[in-house]
Amino acid sequence: MQSHLLSISDLSKEEAFQILDTAEELRKISDGPMKKLPTLRGRTVVNLFYEDSTRTRISFESAAKRLSADVINFSAKGSSVSKGESLKDTAQTLQAIGADAVIIRHGASGAAQRLADSGWISASVINAGDGTHEHPTQALLDAFTIRSHFPDFAADFTGLRVAIVGDILHSRVARSNVLLLAKMGASVTLVAPPTLVPVGAEKWPVKISYDLDSILPDIDVVMMLRVQQERMTNFFFPSAREYSRAFGLTNSRLALLQPKTIVMHPGPMNRGLEISAESADSTKSVVLEQVANGVLVRMAVLYTLLGGLPLNAGTERKS
Ligand code: CP
Repeated sequence: MQSHLLSISDLSKEEAFQILDTAEELRKISDGPMKKLPTLRGRTVVNLFYEDSTRTRISFESAAKRLSADVINFSAKGSSVSKGESLKDTAQTLQAIGADAVIIRHGASGAAQRLADSGWISASVINAGDGTHEHPTQALLDAFTIRSHFPDFAADFTGLRVAIVGDILHSRVARSNVLLLAKMGASVTLVAPPTLVPVGAEKWPVKISYDLDSILPDIDVVMMLRVQQERMTNFFFPSAREYSRAFGLTNSRLALLQPKTIVMHPGPMNRGLEISAESADSTKSVVLEQVANGVLVRMAVLYTLLGGLPLNAGTERKS
């Protein structure tokens, strides 16, 4: 595998499953007496966040600390970026302090690739969300969560039916999930109003539907997406009420799902818009599992990219 994770395209199917297997191993170790592993002791991981985040930033921080790395959190707000400092100068500052991995979230699609290709830093670059382009670790944690609910598909997702619903146009989560789920063999259907389906999506490895009610009874996983009002410069639907009526996971739609179907959402959720509070809090919802799994999967990604001591080093009890 390369030393960066910028896109799901960077991973083969085997490498993707390998990361999920490593996360599974880390889950078993984390359930034991050793909560913190010495694997990345002496390494420095920088969270470089130019856009807001709760789950991704916290879980990368937690993941790095659980592997004993030193963590530096950099938020553009309150930094010299607000005085006009460029990405190049910021990156060179990180190089000077000896960063081994830089986890970057940025509003510009391609920012992570730019950092990795620039030659400004020698660290591994991990894309934590770039504009509307990709969010690869979110897709990996989603696949890990799906796999834990459907063990029959542990080695291959062929036959698994996933619907990704809502604001596909602005969603880096949707793009990474389409690439990963298709790579792993799943059958993916995008469900959205025509205005929120990107131009060119007909060439993606997916089916496209505009009728949520006809899709819901025959799927294993429904992944609801946040309506990203902050990225909308146009009117994409007449009103929130009409959007919710046609594309929201309402209480009545929740009842259409099969008993085994799980409800996912990457967060943060707009309760009452793309998902009802009852759906978000129902026993079918795995939203909080996704958050918890994010730590394990990000530990697996850091371990895979940075190497370090074997996972079981230091976990044996001395007799
Ligand atoms: N899913 C996700 O990326 O959430 P945050 O924006 O809170 O990191």
